[in-house]
Amino acid sequence: MNESAAALYDRVRTVIPPAEWPVFETDIEAILALKRTRNAVILAHNYQTPEIFHCVADIVGDSLALAREATRVEAQTIVLAGVRFMAETAKLLNPQKTVLIPDLAAGCSLADSITPADVRLLRQRYPGVPVIAYVNTSADVKAEVDICCTSGNARKVVESFGASRVIMLPDEYLAKNVAAETNVEIIAWKGHCEVHERFTPADIAELREAYPDVVVLAHPECPPEVVAAADFSGSTAAMSDYVGAQRAGRIVLLTECSMSDNIAAQRPDLDFVRPCNLCPHMKRITLRNIRRALERNEHVVEVDPAVADQARRAVERMLAL
Ligand code: 13P
Ligand code: SF4
Repeated sequence: MNESAAALYDRVRTVIPPAEWPVFETDIEAILALKRTRNAVILAHNYQTPEIFHCVADIVGDSLALAREATRVEAQTIVLAGVRFMAETAKLLNPQKTVLIPDLAAGCSLADSITPADVRLLRQRYPGVPVIAYVNTSADVKAEVDICCTSGNARKVVESFGASRVIMLPDEYLAKNVAAETNVEIIAWKGHCEVHERFTPADIAELREAYPDVVVLAHPECPPEVVAAADFSGSTAAMSDYVGAQRAGRIVLLTECSMSDNIAAQRPDLDFVRPCNLCPHMKRITLRNIRRALERNEHVVEVDPAVADQARRAVERMLAL
């Protein structure tokens, strides 16, 4: 292994066995070179695997951080190592730049749970009630709403209207978890994250019995009973910060599996206990298809001009808060 490869491997040595590293090394070197020649940056969500997150990404974070950072990118090309709605958001905020997603099939069960027609029906049913869309929605749904939110700022967005009730879509559980923290009445939709809906309070009870000292963190896309039984709930960035402040000990992250791996790579003193669940959409992104995206300029993300301005307005309102 040459010196630069050794330095890269050092970042992930506690989570990637030496025997697996050669599989990644060639793609990593190719991607680092392609980023220079193509004037490209890679934005990676916290759920990306450690070889992507620690070895090729320029900017990492939760959905809110990725949207914020997308407004500051100077490079001409952005590769979004995440799911389609994140790439669409990056494109909305960078209409003049090339935004690539390595696999167009990287969707999201929440984004798929609601259509623009559904939002129009909600508006008819609740006239005058502000409508908030989680960023986990398609651009054409964003175009129908007043503002976006993420799990990192949902309460702030809900309270920003000074209204007694709001509609928050499409995540029923996020809406209920935020409702538990505010006096604003929240009308929810029935969408669920296929990764987080699978956690149960029984998982937490079993964990606490097996490891009485375990600290339990749950993403707010988990059902409210799960969040209530956890020690902390927050966006992926908030969970990461919370764990960062912990001394050695046992942690369980009720969220996507790569979160634990990415933190464990930097905190070998912490013992991450499972369960976790894989997001099949996030896992569609690999070093191999990131490399191909840069080599072939694929897949170029476009947003329908008929909805782009309205959708951008909803995202920009959120970022301005
Ligand atoms: P955050 O990173 O914003 O917490 O979102 C989690 C998620 O499920 C993204 O799809
Ligand atoms: Fe969507 Fe859930 Fe996957 Fe996030 S973890 S991309 S919310 S399916």
